[in-house]
Amino acid sequence: MSTNTATPEVDKGLATTYAAETEMSFIDGSKGILEYVGIEIDALARNSSFEEVVSLLWNRRLPTQSELDAFNKKIRAEYDLPDAMWAMIKQVPSSATPMHALRTLVSALAMFDEEADDPSEGANERKSIRLLAKAPTLIAAFDRHRKGQDFVKPDASMNIASNFLTMLNGEKPTDTMQKALDVCLILHADHGLNASTFAGRVTISTLSDMYSAITTAIGTLKGPLHGGANEAVMVMLNEIGEMDRVDQYIKGKLDRKEKIMGFGHRVYKAYDPRATYLKTFTKQLAADTGNQKLYEMSTRIEQIMDEAVAARGIYPNVDFYSATTYASLGLDIDLFTPMFAMSRIAGWAGHCIEHLSDNRLIRPRAAYVGPHEKPYVPMNER
Ligand code: CMC
Repeated sequence: MSTNTATPEVDKGLATTYAAETEMSFIDGSKGILEYVGIEIDALARNSSFEEVVSLLWNRRLPTQSELDAFNKKIRAEYDLPDAMWAMIKQVPSSATPMHALRTLVSALAMFDEEADDPSEGANERKSIRLLAKAPTLIAAFDRHRKGQDFVKPDASMNIASNFLTMLNGEKPTDTMQKALDVCLILHADHGLNASTFAGRVTISTLSDMYSAITTAIGTLKGPLHGGANEAVMVMLNEIGEMDRVDQYIKGKLDRKEKIMGFGHRVYKAYDPRATYLKTFTKQLAADTGNQKLYEMSTRIEQIMDEAVAARGIYPNVDFYSATTYASLGLDIDLFTPMFAMSRIAGWAGHCIEHLSDNRLIRPRAAYVGPHEKPYVPMNER
């Protein structure tokens, strides 16, 4: 028997493979450009709201005021959870991390949705709104449960950012706080075929359901090479602790060839435009909230990295300054990645619907590199 043993070339990490088309976000990694449906991210961060951006991504154009009002109404009508979900949250171990809780609870939502397995576009759009609206409630409710606090039920008079911070903290956020979170939600909403979006598209391409796809995506986002990096940045800032320890810490890591979290990107080889905006925004926020030290440590890290590795295309990414932003909002470190998920549901859901409009099962191949034609050895002869 002859076996073809030629090994095909593998695109490791699929770094140069285009696996899908999208009309939602465009990235030019060499120039540091990110656009949502053709509009620069900076213009959206300055002028838009998260809800407006979601509408833009899902409908491929900016909404009129009345369209946005109607969209907000639909989202707010879905903030609340089924009673059984509130009860279920109380059963989650308070020692669980928020990402494990979020992934599990989003998956559980499917069991309370009669449309869970309805593959029509209309049902998928309604499920997208439900997932977007309910994820903040799940995150805030789990956080209060683990701290032994009573739930704060959602308030449909507020936008996603304000409602989330109110459910989390039990009091309305200041305008600065709600604006900061809203901006972070805008900046994280979509980003081409990143790892979690790809994972979600793989799941939906099997004609599974939206809840399964978003659950897959949350699990993928969790890793420190992806959405988990914002938590890792904060852990690093805490480990450094003081300004006079920054140089020794960062240079030591670079000498040991360790990665500095919040730097580098598969696509951007120039400054991540989300980080550009966030850096400016965070400076003021950190000053306003007394987190100046974090901001100063961050800018010193950036200076050192600039001298050491910028020539190799390694710059701060969105996670670097979002860590200081979230810390300035008083959020616990392990809520940083759930914040990312809360926003990226916009992208994940949009990509799932986009994928289904022209589906082909995503099923790449693995180049087999093991042995061939080996005899089967009976158990008693091994
Ligand atoms: N610090 C120091 N060196 C780095 C870093 C870093 N943060 N990132 C990449 N490098 C070096 C890396 O060591 C490697 O060097 P060498 O060629 O000498 O082995 C080279 O740059 C290429 O790195 P890579 O990991 O092969 O590149 P990649 O395209 O596979 O990885 C990345 C992209 C984001 C995984 C990587 O830059 C990284 O691990 N960064 C830290 C984690 C992080 O901040 N992730 C968030 C990404 S942005 C938000 C998101 O999309 O989730």
